[in-house]
Amino acid sequence: QTSEAEVVVFSVPSYACQRRTTLENHNAVLTDALALLAENAELSEEEGRGVAFRRAAAVLKALPRPVTSMTELRGLPCLGDHSLRVIKDILENGASSEAESTKQSERYKALKVLTGIFGVGAKTADRWIREGILGLQQLQESGQTLNRAQQAGLEHYDDLNQPVTKADADVISEIVERAVVSVLPGAQMTLIGGFRRGKLSGHDVDFLITHPEEGREVGLMPKVVSWLESQGFLLYQKTTRNSYLESKDGPGRPSSNMDRFERCFSIFKLTEKERRRTKHPETATENGLRTVSTPEPDPHTGHKLWRAVRVDLVVSPISQFAFALLGWTGSKLFERELRRWAGHERNMSLSSHALYDNKQRIYLRATSEEEIFAHLGLEFIPPSERNT
Ligand code: GTP
Ligand code: MN
Ligand code: MN
Repeated sequence: QTSEAEVVVFSVPSYACQRRTTLENHNAVLTDALALLAENAELSEEEGRGVAFRRAAAVLKALPRPVTSMTELRGLPCLGDHSLRVIKDILENGASSEAESTKQSERYKALKVLTGIFGVGAKTADRWIREGILGLQQLQESGQTLNRAQQAGLEHYDDLNQPVTKADADVISEIVERAVVSVLPGAQMTLIGGFRRGKLSGHDVDFLITHPEEGREVGLMPKVVSWLESQGFLLYQKTTRNSYLESKDGPGRPSSNMDRFERCFSIFKLTEKERRRTKHPETATENGLRTVSTPEPDPHTGHKLWRAVRVDLVVSPISQFAFALLGWTGSKLFERELRRWAGHERNMSLSSHALYDNKQRIYLRATSEEEIFAHLGLEFIPPSERNT
């Protein structure tokens, strides 16, 4: 159909869950700008625009080398006019004027600072900004009533806005593991979220807890939380039933299973003592003996001998474990794309609890992530390649 040399340089399938996206990103300058615009849209509660920018960024993340000209983008999916304008601006001028002006805007800066408080979402931040509250100082002077989460968020603001390292995630894993096996021998704990995808830092640490015998996990969360509390590990915790609602409530949404799915949002107190106790960087010496080196105090915490870390705990029955594992490993866009694929391409409803075939009107069972991908007619993508 095309007479001239229209070369499609890159070929990328349109759903992010059909692609392998590692942490290696050859187009970070482009994707950073698009991610900033996505974040700004999300913070302004323009979800559709946010997703469009996220999808565009995800396509660029999947490319095997840097984009150097607009012609290379021909034929690529998910690149809307707005995203293309942003990319063109960067390729021609070295930066996106829209991204730069957004970053400098008072509103964006205020939204960032305020939603940087644990427990503060876009809605609350927007309300405060309209009342003239643009920063932490103004918030404290305003006499606004803060809920328990927000009070804890404000109290530990600096720590919680400091990235969590993989090393600290490992220390916390060890603590959670101790808690879990102490309260229920045989219970199992898995690191999920960004660290399962191989990220070296994150905004929190996420864990999924289950027991190989169905039903034994009931009542587990309060016990784990009590254990952690009694040992002084928790600065804050709120345990809830899983009330996460998928954006599209399909007929297959297994609401009857919801009440067994518990989640705990917490703030851990991670002490130097625990860091020393748990991570043992062993160094081989000449005589073959190993010595345990003393970790340096965290430069960010100064003289404080501990830091606050956000930790998410989820408990799932073993029958739903594979779905919970897949649903909580992320990335957020990868999850969204999996559900979109399931709905639009397979007439199925996927959640963190189950997979429902709307045509056959049956739940499709799975005991591993591989089986879920197979049910969906997708090639298996391992966690390290879900960094979309
Ligand atoms: P960082 O923590 O920022 O490093 O990245 P992350 O990928 O670990 O993000 P996060 O901890 O926010 O979420 C981890 C995964 O859990 C993501 O895939 C989310 O989509 C998923 N998730 C977060 N909250 C919920 C929820 O309430 N319900 C369900 N089902 N999934 C959730
Ligand atoms: Mn996380
Ligand atoms: Mn989380």
